[in-house]
Amino acid sequence: MPDPTAQTPDRDAVLAALERVIDPKTGQGLNSAGLVRGLVLGAGRAGFMLEVPRGDAEAYASVRKAAEEALKAVPGVAQAQVVLTAESAPARTVSRGAKLSSEAVEQGRPKAPVPQGRPDHVRKVIAVASGKGGVGKSTVAVNLACALAGLGLRVGLLDADVYGPSAPTMLGLSGAPEYGPDKKMVPKDAWGLKAMSIGLLVDPDQAMVWRGPMASQALGQMLGETRWGTEDAPLDILVVDLPPGTGDVQLTLVQRTVLDGAVIVSTPQEVALADARRGVRMFEKVGAPVLGLVENMAFFPDPSTGEPIPIFGRGGAKAEAERLGVKFLGEIPLDMDLRKGADAGRPLVATDRQGSTAQVFAGVAQAVRDALSLTS
Ligand SMILES: Nc1ncnc2c1ncn2[C@@H]1O[C@H](COP(=O)(O)OP(=O)(O)OP(=O)(O)O)[C@@H](O)[C@H]1O
Ligand SMILES: [Mg+2]
Repeated sequence: MPDPTAQTPDRDAVLAALERVIDPKTGQGLNSAGLVRGLVLGAGRAGFMLEVPRGDAEAYASVRKAAEEALKAVPGVAQAQVVLTAESAPARTVSRGAKLSSEAVEQGRPKAPVPQGRPDHVRKVIAVASGKGGVGKSTVAVNLACALAGLGLRVGLLDADVYGPSAPTMLGLSGAPEYGPDKKMVPKDAWGLKAMSIGLLVDPDQAMVWRGPMASQALGQMLGETRWGTEDAPLDILVVDLPPGTGDVQLTLVQRTVLDGAVIVSTPQEVALADARRGVRMFEKVGAPVLGLVENMAFFPDPSTGEPIPIFGRGGAKAEAERLGVKFLGEIPLDMDLRKGADAGRPLVATDRQGSTAQVFAGVAQAVRDALSLTS
C-alpha cells in the first residue's frame, strides 16, 4: 500500500525533470521526444514507460537508469520506476546471447531463441500456467511455493500477472521493493518466500492498461534486476505465476530465462481442460518440459466425513494428463480455507502444514522437486 501521508509529486515538476534527460537519438528531452508514456503519479511514487523503437532497447538501458534517477530527485518522489518497452512485440526480439535451438530447427518448429541462463543465483525456474483464467493458478502458485519452502528449499515467487497481480493480496505484501547497492530490487520476504510482484511496482489499476510488449518488458526487469539469491545463498527454485493464456508474457519468460518446467493448472470442466491442452502445447513448442497437470477445485470434501463429493465428476484431468503424456501431479480440493487464506494474505499451506489440503500441495511439491532433481 502506498504511504497515505506521502504526497503525489507535481506532474509539471516530473515532466520538467524528465525533459532534462536527453534522448540520445533525437537530442531532445525525453518528454519532447515523445518517449514518456503512461506516466503514473501516486503517493510518493512516479513511474512511466520509456517506449523506444524495437532494436533500440538495449541502447536505452542507461537512459532508463538516468530517467529513474531524475525522477527520484523530484520532491515527493521516494520510489521511481521506469519500465523500458519496445514498440513492437518483444516476442520477435532476440535477446543477447540467445541462439537457436538445433532441436527446434531440426523438428521444423518455430525458431524460438533459447536463452543461455537463468536469473543470477537462481538454480531452477518453473512456471505455473493455465490456458484459462480463474482456475486458481495464483492460489496454486503461492501455495506450491510455500510447500516447496516446507521441503527446506529456498524459494522465490515471481508474480508475472501484469494484468491482475495477486501476490500482494495472497501473501499480504505492500510497499514498493527497495533497491540494494547493486541497484537490484530486493524481493519481499513473506512466509519463507522471496516474493516479487508487478503489483508492488505499479498501481494495479494502471497495470490493466499495459499492453503486451510493456508487460513483457516489465517481466524481463523483474527477472533480471531482482536480487533473488546471492552467491552464498542461491535460490533453489523460482516459481513464476503467469497470466492466463498463451501470449507475450509467456513468450518473454521463455526468451529471458531457461525454463526448467511448467506446471499446468486446470479445473475439472471440459472447457478448462481444452485450455489446459493449449497450455501444455505452448510449453512443448518452446521446449520447456511440462512437469505435470494439477487439477484444482477437483472435488468438495464432505463436511462431516471429509470424503470427496465429486461435484464435477472425477478423473477427467487425470485421464487428460495421460492422453497428453504428462504427469498428473494431484487433485486440490475445493477448500474454503484455501480461499480465505488467499484473501487474507495468509497462505493456507504456510499456516496449516498438517491439514489435508497442505498435504496435497506437499505431494505436488515433492513431485516437482524430484522432477528437477533438487536437493535442499
Ligand atoms: N481449491 C480452491 N478452493 C477454494 N477456492 C479456490 C481454490 N482455488 C482457487 N480458489 C479461489 O478462486 C478464485 C480464483 O483463484 P486464483 O486467483 O488463484 O485464480 P487464477 O487462475 O490465478 O485467476 P486469474 O486468471 O484471474 O489470474 C480466488 O478467489 C481463490 O481464492
Ligand atoms: Mg492469477
